[in-house]
Amino acid sequence: MITPVLTIEPMAARNIDVVRAIDARCYSSPWGAATWRNELAEKTRHHVVARMDDEVLGHAGLLIMLDEVHVTTVAIHPDHQSRGLGTQLVLHLLDHARMVGGASATLEVRASARRTQRLYARFGFQPAGARKSYYSAPVDDAIVMWLHDLQTPRIGQRLDLIRREIGLAAEGDVS
Ligand SMILES: CC(C)(COP(=O)(O)OP(=O)(O)OC[C@H]1O[C@@H](n2cnc3c(N)ncnc32)[C@H](O)[C@@H]1OP(=O)(O)O)[C@@H](O)C(=O)NCCC(=O)NCCS
Repeated sequence: MITPVLTIEPMAARNIDVVRAIDARCYSSPWGAATWRNELAEKTRHHVVARMDDEVLGHAGLLIMLDEVHVTTVAIHPDHQSRGLGTQLVLHLLDHARMVGGASATLEVRASARRTQRLYARFGFQPAGARKSYYSAPVDDAIVMWLHDLQTPRIGQRLDLIRREIGLAAEGDVS
């Protein structure tokens, strides 16, 4: 699949309203404006927005704890899902995690969200346990997924393979 290319840039306070509008469509318990302001002020967070032309279509974020990174958010506006845009955001998060020296990445995903689990499995994330009734509205278990060995060539090659599969240039490609 060739995917439209997103511009991915650091999230700023001016993006909070559009991010909250996207979250209202994507999450059952979206963060409020005050939480977002705190997140943007925290040095251990890395939040980005994804733009196509002038429109913000999604966002994603990490919590960085020493060499462990936690994927806290990945959201694409429902009108633009299934076009490879979420995949680009996860690629960005894992590139960033590798750049800051991350060794492992983890996340929680709704047990019922099989498609989202497949998205993460494509990157090599593996289920490693469940948190009972972690989510509300509707109640659902969380599947905890992990991706280890982020600094190894094997992971770099996997990210490059996905980049090529969706039609983006890989890091080793010469233009
Ligand atoms: C999860 C979410 C960000 C995905 O965004 P998206 O732009 O739709 O994702 P993409 O199109 O890049 O990728 C999803 C696809 O990757 C697919 N995929 C997995 N492995 C693949 C492979 N080897 N080759 C091709 N596609 C593959 C998935 O099955 C899915 O395919 P589908 O759209 O045909 O069903 C989006 O659905 C969303 O915002 N959901 C609500 C918020 C949420 O739950 N976020 C996750 C929090 S952990």
